[in-house]
Amino acid sequence: MSGFKTKAIHIGQEPEQVTGAVAVPVFQTSTYAQKELGGHAEFDYARTINPTRLALEENLAALENGKYGYCFASGMAAIAATLSLVKNGDHVVAGSDMYGGSYRYFSRILSENGVEFSYVDMREPKNIEAAIKANTKLIYCETPTNPMMNLVDLEAVGKIAKAKKLISVVDNTFMSPYFQNPLDFEIDIVLHSATKYIGGHSDVIGGAVVTANSDLAEKIKFYQNSAGGVPGPWDVWLLLRSVKTLAIRMEAHNANAIQIAEFLSKQAKIKKIFYPGLSTHPQHALAKRQMRGFGGIISIETGSLENATKFTSKLKVFTLGESLGGVESLVCHPVTMTHGSVPPERRVELGITDGLIRLSVGIEDIGDLMADMERGLDAI
Ligand SMILES: Cc1ncc(COP(=O)(O)O)c(C=O)c1O
Repeated sequence: MSGFKTKAIHIGQEPEQVTGAVAVPVFQTSTYAQKELGGHAEFDYARTINPTRLALEENLAALENGKYGYCFASGMAAIAATLSLVKNGDHVVAGSDMYGGSYRYFSRILSENGVEFSYVDMREPKNIEAAIKANTKLIYCETPTNPMMNLVDLEAVGKIAKAKKLISVVDNTFMSPYFQNPLDFEIDIVLHSATKYIGGHSDVIGGAVVTANSDLAEKIKFYQNSAGGVPGPWDVWLLLRSVKTLAIRMEAHNANAIQIAEFLSKQAKIKKIFYPGLSTHPQHALAKRQMRGFGGIISIETGSLENATKFTSKLKVFTLGESLGGVESLVCHPVTMTHGSVPPERRVELGITDGLIRLSVGIEDIGDLMADMERGLDAI
C-alpha cells in the first residue's frame, strides 16, 4: 500500500480475527486473561497495550512515513512524552513562536525542573545553529507556527540536528500527515495534537508521537507505559474513524482557506495576513518545497482589539472558540485564548497583538464562509 488514502483506511485495520468485523472494535477492557503463570502474553494490561490503540498507532506511524507510533491522551501528553528525552541540565533550542500551552509547559514546568531553553526565531536556520551549546540535546519546533504561520526549513533542521547529534522534533499539528511529513527530511520525531486535524470533528482530545528511530521509540514507549497518559479505547476509535477521511477533509480545508486568504488579502481593513499559501507570504517558496498543501489556518491582523471584537462578534458560521482543525470553522483571539499564557512582552515581540485573529477554516460551503467574512469586515 503506498497511497495516503489507502494507507489511512487500511493500515492497522485488517478485519478483526474472531468475527471478521471490518471496523476495528473498541476493546473496552483494562486487562486480559493470561494462559499460564510466567507466560508472556502480548496483551497483558491496557495501559501498556490495547488493540484499538495499537491500530491507530500503526496507522499514524505509516501516515507519517515512520515505523513506530505512540498515542497519548492529549497533544500535551505527547509533547511531555517527547520532552521526557531531556533531563535536568540539558538544553533545548525551541522555536520562539509556538502554541501557548507548549510554551507554558516548557517555561513553567520543564524549566523549573532544570531543563534549559533558548527560544529562537527559526525562520533563519543560522539562529538555531547559533543557539546550540555543549549541553544542547534537542531541537523543537512547529511549522507552520501557531499562530503566526511562520515556517521552519525542515531539511535545514534535520541536517543541523544530524551534524550536531541532537534529537530533532517537529509538531506537525497544523499540516497533518497529509500535507507534510517531517520524517522525510531526517527529522527524528514528529508529534501531533490529534485533537485537531487528525480528529477533525472537535469531539476528542488526543496526541501522537511517531519516529523511525528504534532507540527513541523504545524510550517513548517506556515513558508511555510508565507515566501512563494513554487515551481510552473510545477516543482512539474515534480518531481511527476520523483518520480515514483525513485526506479529503484536508483538501477541503485547503481549498476553502486559499479562497478566503486571497479574498482577505485584498481587503484594506485587514492590515496583515499570515497564510503560507499566498505568494506574498515571505516563505511561500519554502512552503511549496516542504508541504503538499497549505492547510486551513489563516491569521489576520485587524489593527486593534476593538476591530477584532467587532469582526468576531458579527460572524455567524465561524464559532468563537479555542482549538482548530475541525470540520466546522472556528475563530480564535490568541491573546485572550490560546496564547494567554505567553507573557505580554513576548507576545508583542512575536506579533501576537490584540488585533490578531486566527481563523480555522472548516469545510462548510465556501459561499457561506465568504458571506461571514464580509459580515465581519462590514463591522470594522
Ligand atoms: C500546535 C499545537 N500543538 C499542541 C497542542 C496541544 O494539544 P492538546 O490540546 O491536544 O493537548 C495544540 C493545541 O492547541 C496545538 O495547537
